[in-house]
Amino acid sequence: MSHKQITRVLPTIQTTEGDGLVIRRAFPTKSMDHLDPFLLLDHFGPRTVPPGDTHGVPPHPHRGFQTVTYMLSGEFEHRDSEGNHGLLSPGDLQWMIAGDGVVHSEMPSEKFQKQGGTLHGFQLWVNLPATDKRMPPKYQDIPSAKVPEVSPSPNYNVRVLAGEFSGLKGVVETRVPVLYLHVKLSSGSLEVPVPTSWNTMAYVFQGTLGQGKDELHEGSLAIYGEEGNSVKLEAGDSGCEVLLIAGEPLKEPVVRYGPFVMNTEEEIYTAISDFRAGKLGRGSVGVG
Ligand code: CO
Repeated sequence: MSHKQITRVLPTIQTTEGDGLVIRRAFPTKSMDHLDPFLLLDHFGPRTVPPGDTHGVPPHPHRGFQTVTYMLSGEFEHRDSEGNHGLLSPGDLQWMIAGDGVVHSEMPSEKFQKQGGTLHGFQLWVNLPATDKRMPPKYQDIPSAKVPEVSPSPNYNVRVLAGEFSGLKGVVETRVPVLYLHVKLSSGSLEVPVPTSWNTMAYVFQGTLGQGKDELHEGSLAIYGEEGNSVKLEAGDSGCEVLLIAGEPLKEPVVRYGPFVMNTEEEIYTAISDFRAGKLGRGSVGVG
């Protein structure tokens, strides 16, 4: 196997989402708008939340892509205009194909708001091909126990959130071929096959990845070049935890405006007027 080489390293920027939830954003930033087919990567926490803190993301719309939430710690409650209601607990994955339109809220659960604790997780946006942008929405809630996991040596552990690794297949429907892995490496290295021409990135969220001059610290996003058919992840001295994210590019125009990502400006105007007319999402988001 030939290894893909890191061509760029981007830092995360601190920003806020929703009603003041502090997050670190890997992209979109001034340095990179998107990495086809990925549109956004946010890292929230790890942050100690005092009891009584209610910061979250109140009801907001999406159209034209997929939102993916992966929780490591804490508890979020999801409600949407399709009538779905779910709890996201540590290790759980939520893969929502927003398609034609969903209005949803993501707030700390009542229990978490009362008790406080550590909030930690990620949100990734995955684009949809033009033919799927107006498909009926689909909500996929994957409890931690259903996320395939492989730990053949104490050196590493891999959770397959989407795509395939070492014969294990993620259970979500993704509409575009993608690979989304949560890799824990305590020492040594791990080789992950990734098709040539797929866009590939590794986000370091704990410890250090790589050695010597190639060492990458927590909060860095490494972008790999197309050439090569694998990624070699090498643990830094203190080990690391990394999200490895790769996907087949759609190679279609990306026109984005906040929570809407379409192919043309006209489709964005339609999304905004549909939202204003209450036509985006079938019902209202329940509260309480
Ligand atoms: Co959302």
